[in-house]
Amino acid sequence: MPERNGRFITLEGIDGAGKSTHVGWLAEHLAVTGHEVVATREPGGTPLGEELRRLLLTAPMTHDSEALLMFAARREHLEQVIRPALARGAWVVCDRFTDATYAYQGGGHGVARERIRMLEDWVHGDCQPDLTLLFDVPPAVSRSRLAKAQHEGRALDKFEREAAAFFERVRDAYLERAGADAARFRIVDSTQPVASVRAALAAHLDALAGQGAAA
Ligand code: TMP
Repeated sequence: MPERNGRFITLEGIDGAGKSTHVGWLAEHLAVTGHEVVATREPGGTPLGEELRRLLLTAPMTHDSEALLMFAARREHLEQVIRPALARGAWVVCDRFTDATYAYQGGGHGVARERIRMLEDWVHGDCQPDLTLLFDVPPAVSRSRLAKAQHEGRALDKFEREAAAFFERVRDAYLERAGADAARFRIVDSTQPVASVRAALAAHLDALAGQGAAA
């Protein structure tokens, strides 16, 4: 396994679950404890990854192509940003990672989990998150948040325009993964007020900080 001194934290949840309300706060909470923090996102995080993001969020394509492009962007991100940051001891906070591919392309769009697992093994079998914070809301809450954003003038992307049943499947896939890996996942009830969500997040981060150095 490559050298790794930092911590790798990923944020997940259906669209409208409220991750973006907290990502900046999370990075600041970690930075004040003296860690170098690298806040990044997927798809994206590198020049090529951001180009692929633009395509993925706008262009029609097969579900398989979607999964493959997510992993192409991820490979660049790992090599250019995530692995170097972890090796120098930084804490990486990544807004979405491979759980999103299982949830969206697998659960939402029906790409076979086994295919996603093959890509995962190939691209980062030796590099997994230490902690995954799953921002959980019922799809009805997510829809009303997205409708509000749209009403305020923000154009919804290709995924955000999906039907309610899609978000049900995505959420179910996330919850199933969280249930299967309780050591890594923490489910955060994102229907709660911001202050309560942040108290829960702080407790999870502080618990991770208290653990020994990652292998
Ligand atoms: P964001 O809204 O969190 O910035 O994410 C962009 C969209 O990309 C979001 O709708 C989820 C989707 N996505 C996937 O479908 N599969 C993936 O592997 C990733 C990382 C994101």
